[in-house]
Amino acid sequence: MAAIDHCPAAAGWELLVAADATSAADQAARLLLAELSHRQRPLGLATGRTMEPVYRALMQQLAGLPAGERHRRLAGWLSFNLDEYVGLGPRHPGSFAAFMACQLVQPLGLDPGQVRLPDGLAPDPAREACRYGAELAAAGGIGLQLLGLGLNGHVGFNEPPCSASAPIRVVDLADTTRQQNAGAFGGDSAAVPARAITLGLAEILAAQRILLLVTGAAKAPVLARLLRDPPCPDLPASWLQRHPAVTLLVDRAALDGA
Ligand code: GLP
Repeated sequence: MAAIDHCPAAAGWELLVAADATSAADQAARLLLAELSHRQRPLGLATGRTMEPVYRALMQQLAGLPAGERHRRLAGWLSFNLDEYVGLGPRHPGSFAAFMACQLVQPLGLDPGQVRLPDGLAPDPAREACRYGAELAAAGGIGLQLLGLGLNGHVGFNEPPCSASAPIRVVDLADTTRQQNAGAFGGDSAAVPARAITLGLAEILAAQRILLLVTGAAKAPVLARLLRDPPCPDLPASWLQRHPAVTLLVDRAALDGA
């Protein structure tokens, strides 16, 4: 793992370069574990393929702790996910609620109330977005926000174009995003819901710290844009350049192609 003090995109960013996706996931999990030991605000969590090895590594690292220490960290767990598809509940295998149940809640024995997501089955999604935002605000807002990066530059489901002040809301998903996420729907992008509830850039930028994880050669083009372009609506992740405490954790495959 090499640490580079200066990121060309934004002077305040810390850039960490891991040899590969596994090593990047280990490092991300270590940062999450450290946050769990002293967190004052909830964790902000993400879904997607990038996060699967992170959550696996987190489980392994937790398993390696003395029992008392492990229980203390798990008892203190409170997280809010970024997003959920409109129309999907936890029983649908493509839902982010199912992803979190399978990746973290069940294997770690967490209470489902410790791992919160918007309710994709709420009859009024716009109202659910407001309710979830109020619940997050009442919990103090996000401490450490874990983020992946969409191929089109989205974070959460903030699709381009998106302003830095966009709040939690219901969004229409881009066709490219539905294609990107089709794997969880038998490869059929038409089966991917067309709408989602997502935290906005407003809530994401209000987090105390941000950990943006970008791995794999497929992300190299969008990473290149992120490192080069000034903040702009066409690249929602670029608004993170305005945040004072971002760690950008990349692997060689993403960085070398960027
Ligand atoms: C998804 C999620 C994002 C995720 C991103 C990258 O659509 N809404 O939170 O970070 O796209 O996904 P992946 O890790 O599968 O490339």
